[in-house]
Amino acid sequence: MSHKVLILNGPNLNLLGTRQPEVYGRQTLADIEGACARQAAALGLQADFRQSNVEGELVTWVQEARAGHAAIIVNAAAYTHTSVALMDALLACDLPVIEVHLSNIHRREAFRHHSYVSKAALGMICGLGAHGYELALAAVARLLNTTVEA
Ligand code: DQA
Repeated sequence: MSHKVLILNGPNLNLLGTRQPEVYGRQTLADIEGACARQAAALGLQADFRQSNVEGELVTWVQEARAGHAAIIVNAAAYTHTSVALMDALLACDLPVIEVHLSNIHRREAFRHHSYVSKAALGMICGLGAHGYELALAAVARLLNTTVEA
């Protein structure tokens, strides 16, 4: 059985493709989901890819991940900068957490420089667009030892 990785996407990421493409690129969330599924399979992992605009739903999914997932990759979008609740859930889940952002949050407005998610993450990848998700999966594969290539 391959390890299941929860890939969580926060608010407004459902709009990718048309949402500020100069910042977030032209790939849709479905494009990113497809790339993650392919990359996960190549690494011996299984991607469980989800998006929600609702903070509490993301918190509940993190709580539930403990039972059936081996790691969490999270782009919490705007909740990155605001959500103590999501941070607390990630701290409590006892799973390796990798944080991803499409844009380089440190080159942007000051309010994006602080991340609550980072307090619970092993590492963070930002500024590399959708490729960041694939890099995060490679990091998870190495952490879980599912591949010799990662
Ligand atoms: C984002 C960066 C956040 O600051 C922003 O609120 C997002 C997307 C990113 O992927 O670059 O919605 O997480």
